[in-house]
Amino acid sequence: MRYNVLTPEQAAAMVRDGEVVGFSGFSNAGSPKVMPTALAQHAKAEHAAGRPWKITLMTGATTSTLVDGVLAEAEALSRIMPYQSSPETRNGINNCDIQYVEAHVSMMAQAMRYGHLPRVTTAIVEVCEVTDNGELTLTTSEGNTPTFCLLADRIILELNSYHDPEKLRCLHDIYMPADPPHRVYIPLNHLSDRVGTRTLKVDPAKIVGVIHTHEPSHIAPFKAVSGVTEQIGDNMVRFLEKEYREGRIPPQFLPLQSGVGNVANAVLASVGKSKIIPAFQMYTEVLQDTVMDLMIEGRCIFASSACLHISDEKLQYLYDNFDFFRNKIILRPQEISNDPAFARRVGLICMNTAIEADIFGNVNSTHFFGNRVMNGIGGSGDFARAAAYTIFSCPSVAKGGAISAIVPMVSHTDHTEHDVDIIITEQGVADLRGKSPRERAVEVIENCAHPDYRDLLRRYVALTPKGHTPHNLSKAFAFHTAFTETGDMRNTKL
Ligand code: COA
Repeated sequence: MRYNVLTPEQAAAMVRDGEVVGFSGFSNAGSPKVMPTALAQHAKAEHAAGRPWKITLMTGATTSTLVDGVLAEAEALSRIMPYQSSPETRNGINNCDIQYVEAHVSMMAQAMRYGHLPRVTTAIVEVCEVTDNGELTLTTSEGNTPTFCLLADRIILELNSYHDPEKLRCLHDIYMPADPPHRVYIPLNHLSDRVGTRTLKVDPAKIVGVIHTHEPSHIAPFKAVSGVTEQIGDNMVRFLEKEYREGRIPPQFLPLQSGVGNVANAVLASVGKSKIIPAFQMYTEVLQDTVMDLMIEGRCIFASSACLHISDEKLQYLYDNFDFFRNKIILRPQEISNDPAFARRVGLICMNTAIEADIFGNVNSTHFFGNRVMNGIGGSGDFARAAAYTIFSCPSVAKGGAISAIVPMVSHTDHTEHDVDIIITEQGVADLRGKSPRERAVEVIENCAHPDYRDLLRRYVALTPKGHTPHNLSKAFAFHTAFTETGDMRNTKL
């Protein structure tokens, strides 16, 4: 190998205070495994010596304690984009120590190439093979890695021998669209089309060193499906079966996209159990354990994704049974896995999770009580406006019933009423298609709100007998205020 072999400490010392660093990966899948901790230790040593040391961190998406969390905990992050999901980073953001630029994950790479974002100077990339002429075999995701490598001055590689390069090459399809005015349509006609390369070619002169690792992805399995999430899943299945029976979904069905988290995982498991929905394909950014199970059962026949966000046990199963999976999975960069133009063309059914929804169909996926961020918009917005069916689901209440997920006005808006077709809770399904705001309010209150909150919501609508959208601005956040003041939204005064 023509490249310098480095220890993580040597590599960390190359990264200067104030740099913009791009991490490969999308979730723990494909992210650097030893450099985050080495950078955190370097930051702590610099701080102990009285020197400032913070970086701007750009990632693919869904991160973790092991990726950005250790850096947040070491007070080494000044800014992070486009997504986060680790408790340490979330605390740093909500305490105003870290600036968080939440963005649609499909748009980040082009925003970087267009020069709209600070330029990445160091890319830290996990690979399972590198050739002397700079051909990289990425591991279990593609994320924003092609663009990080294109823009960075230097690339530090983590060469992870845990993975099998020959097998992973079969899954990758790396394609970077040209920038305007040279961009043409991405030549994807079917989900399983290949349009790119199996390896990522970078300038070998930029590779300043290689660190040897042998690490799994450290991805934990999901929470067991609970009664409420199972009921949400059942409601989703009933709705999709009806659409299918009544001919609005074609005989071969439409491709599915499924979001992150426990609810999304449970919903997908329920769809898999339907006796009416035929075997389906997925066009999604996160391929979770459930998708693997559905493939094994013959329910999911193909998945295009940005990453293999699967537990270590499931990854081993994939390697052990690779011939079965080889033609069933394609990994793409996130600007392709989440391309809204393709999502619209194929008629995607997009199923994501809300934190709260209002009675008119506006959805908050990201913030508690308007100011505390949970994770981020992720890819939900990439799909929501483009999909044929845009469905958001969530339990009707949180925190033992003290919080209603159905409110008069969302405390933060990620998806507007114009993008949302269907809302599903364990109570039922609200079909908002073709309905005016007043009709939507009835549909959401009667079908999705928890019975404890229906009267309050009906009274809220009755406050404003005239007007296209029956809002009353002095009471719009009465539910949220009641919780803040009394710890329970059921104490709302209207
Ligand atoms: N107010 C306050 N807290 C709330 C709440 C509300 N309205 N709704 C939920 N919560 C809390 C829950 O109580 C739970 O907290 P706990 O773990 O302390 O009990 C936490 O939020 C997560 O709720 P859960 O029901 O387990 O949801 P989840 O794991 O399915 O995640 C999202 C839900 C919305 C946070 C998650 O899907 C997400 O980050 N989505 C945005 C990004 C996205 O959609 N990406 C997909 C695109 S491909």
